[in-house]
Amino acid sequence: MTDKNRVYIFDTTLRDGEQSPGATMSHAEKLEIASMLDEMKVDIIEAGFPIASEGDFAAVSEIAKNSKYSVICGLARAQLPDIDRCWEAVKHAARPRIHTFIGTSPLHRAIPNLDQDQMAERIEQTVTHARNLCDNVQWSPMDATRTEHDYLCRVVEIAIKCGATTINIPDTVGYTAPRESADLIRMLIEKVPGADEVIFATHCHNDLGMATANSLAAVEAGARQIECTINGLGERAGNTALEEVVMAMRVRNDIMPFSTEIDTTKIMNLSRRVAQVSGFPVQYNKAIVGKNAFLHESGIHQDGVLKNIETFEIMRPADIGLNENNIVLGKHSGRAALRSKLADLGFEVGDNQLKDVFVRFKALADRKKEVYDDDLVALMQDSSANT
Ligand code: KIV
Ligand code: ZN
Repeated sequence: MTDKNRVYIFDTTLRDGEQSPGATMSHAEKLEIASMLDEMKVDIIEAGFPIASEGDFAAVSEIAKNSKYSVICGLARAQLPDIDRCWEAVKHAARPRIHTFIGTSPLHRAIPNLDQDQMAERIEQTVTHARNLCDNVQWSPMDATRTEHDYLCRVVEIAIKCGATTINIPDTVGYTAPRESADLIRMLIEKVPGADEVIFATHCHNDLGMATANSLAAVEAGARQIECTINGLGERAGNTALEEVVMAMRVRNDIMPFSTEIDTTKIMNLSRRVAQVSGFPVQYNKAIVGKNAFLHESGIHQDGVLKNIETFEIMRPADIGLNENNIVLGKHSGRAALRSKLADLGFEVGDNQLKDVFVRFKALADRKKEVYDDDLVALMQDSSANT
């Protein structure tokens, strides 16, 4: 029996993420990231856009051959040669998927210069063709959130009738907001015949900083696949960040009772590796994976964390595979944090010595932004020499 609250995680770091200007990854780096995603138990990896280049084709084929857990998906425009090329690349996977898309909003329909009926015909032809090649077909009406609702219902119904098994609803330009995102998914599930036979996916961009909220709202309305990238990598302001939606559903499972299979302890390593290979550093205060996400400098916070980690932390660093000390010493730190840090460094100090070191530590912290382990060792050596 399938769990009605199971949410599938579709990672598109290697496709939409790599589309970020300057984020191009080498063949070997793509294989490495794909293997890390597979080990993290991402349900579907969108490995690339096979018709885009020989390099993309080779990467998708190789990833397809090597995947153990994940479904391997390739992207194709609504054109028969694209779909054939995509199939040639993904067919090596134990579980392949073809993802085909076309822009359905008035602005996007104008590009290939198709009227509503002509586009509907194109969708019928291409989805049928994809389904004849592969029994796992995802279809996306690009710019869905700016497509007229009656037309969106019409084309989603066609895609389902032609054999699409997942219907993805992209917010291509990051334009929607949480309530609207939920209403759109709910409307499609209620109105489109056959909607209960497919999985609805949400694919959000972060132009207004709402990608995570929009994705979670869509899930609350019935979507069961979230499309996302590691570190939120992606064009412009990026895509929904995988680590944010996964950890939000885990930490707030009381109000969002959805489950994934993701091994969250692999998140931090993946985040670091994606930052390295894409050349896109993670902002210090980025939720979940930022350098400061688990750091505490203020004395009150450090005291609380030392006594009981839950006082100021809603999740444990170890949950995302971070085993580092979460106390950073600075001018706001107190004696308890200093004593704990010194103990970590192998110095057990009595009350009198702590008093002395604390005064000199504060003077140093006033001059420096952050006091490092080496500074503390030097202070301790100085303090021992003076006693
Ligand atoms: O943002 C978007 O619309 C896309 C599609 C190709 C799914 O990435
Ligand atoms: Zn996208």
